[in-house]
Amino acid sequence: MTSNAVDYDTLIPNNVGLSEDRRLLKALERWHPGYIDWWKDMGPNGFQESNVYLRTAVGVEKDGWAQFGYVKMPEYRWGVLLAPQVQDRKIGFGNHQGEPAWQEVPGEYRAMLRRLIVIQGDTEPASVEQQRYLGKTAPSLYDMRNLFQVNVEEGRHLWAMVYLLQKYFAADGREEANMLLERRSGDIDKPRMLGAFNEETPDWLSFFMFTFFTDRDGKMQLESLAQSGFDPLSRTTRFMLMEEAHHMFVGESGVGRVIEKTCEAMNQAGIEDPYEIEAVRALGVVDLPTVQKKANLHYSLSLDLFGSEVSTNAANAYNAGIKGRYQEDKIEDDHRLLSDTYPVLKLVNGEIKGVEENALTALNMRLRDDYSKDAGKGVGRWNKIIKKNGIEFEITLPHCAFHRMIGEFANISASPEGTLMSNETFSQQKDNWLPSQQDGEFIQSLMRPVVEPGQYANWIAAPKVGVDRKPGDFEYVQLN
Ligand SMILES: [Fe+2]
Ligand SMILES: [Fe+2]
Repeated sequence: MTSNAVDYDTLIPNNVGLSEDRRLLKALERWHPGYIDWWKDMGPNGFQESNVYLRTAVGVEKDGWAQFGYVKMPEYRWGVLLAPQVQDRKIGFGNHQGEPAWQEVPGEYRAMLRRLIVIQGDTEPASVEQQRYLGKTAPSLYDMRNLFQVNVEEGRHLWAMVYLLQKYFAADGREEANMLLERRSGDIDKPRMLGAFNEETPDWLSFFMFTFFTDRDGKMQLESLAQSGFDPLSRTTRFMLMEEAHHMFVGESGVGRVIEKTCEAMNQAGIEDPYEIEAVRALGVVDLPTVQKKANLHYSLSLDLFGSEVSTNAANAYNAGIKGRYQEDKIEDDHRLLSDTYPVLKLVNGEIKGVEENALTALNMRLRDDYSKDAGKGVGRWNKIIKKNGIEFEITLPHCAFHRMIGEFANISASPEGTLMSNETFSQQKDNWLPSQQDGEFIQSLMRPVVEPGQYANWIAAPKVGVDRKPGDFEYVQLN
């Protein structure tokens, strides 16, 4: 079998030669029932018997890697798929730059690699858990199907990380693989590892914001791991990124469709001022200031996922050749960064100031900046929708000091514009900047399921094109 061909004969579809690696196959087959139990327990609630029109990865080449068809989610073929091996791939950065990429785990970096894989792996099932009740209030079958597509692919991403743990980390890898099925999003005793993955995703606007902002953190982390000198990790994450692109699409187009519907409804009703909140809400759509508050919340939670701006862990992982920069292979510099600096916003004597830091320790900051630029482009496209409708309003990304729990600004309060203020002033203003209980209740009041094929809830526009070019009234989920 060539390294690219996908084997569908085994219980676990794969292109990693599982049928020749009995030990690994056994280990994964032992893990599989626990995974299915987890999926039935914590996956989409109430839809395990429905036929869902899903794409399944059946190859790893850019063209034709996915196949569409109806499937019951517990029967989804979660496979282990790696991007094609690059011949003679070399490590592209850090102390081992120019050496052949590792096919086995280098002993000295074993603990570091395991930690990175476990942290990435933990986010995948967490988001499935966070989104498990959303199917019940889907604004259309199209959206319901997109939710489930994201969910099964996050499930596959868990498989991808578990494969690495089981194959390369022996007994402690198996232990970690089991623990990934034990932690639960939001659980007091056994929470997921990162903050944003223990928050609730209470409504569909949150879901779209989550896939736009938080899945995009995932994309950035995967991009930097795709540069890894540990070749199996690089190949695994490169393939995950192909799926991740769809998650970005679901988020961006979802929020875009919410905005579009709001603008259309305002125009039809002759409302020009987006701050006439009660009048806009009376039309059964989400007012734009509330969309902004949701963006403020999800963006600030997602910034926390990048960790401390200045971090020796980040420097160590880079020097080791384990975790690179975003698009490292397209950057033109020495890929060592030993004498370079990078600007970091810090709190200096009670003021926010730009400080030049050692470029190696500032790698989290750099990745976060790349993230903000990437997110900013999507926000720009939302603003075009508003502008096209002739409404004066702009969605903006808040300042990085706003509403932070981790890093330089964890212990201060700042407005979305980055003005420092007392905690007391912040508390008084908070409801203007973050979704209030009232906002949440209003959005909840819109969350009524629409399950007629081709029909959409009043608060969201229909998509421009269907999934897999299906017609507008296609039955994406067959409920039973
Ligand atoms: Fe993922
Ligand atoms: Fe994702």
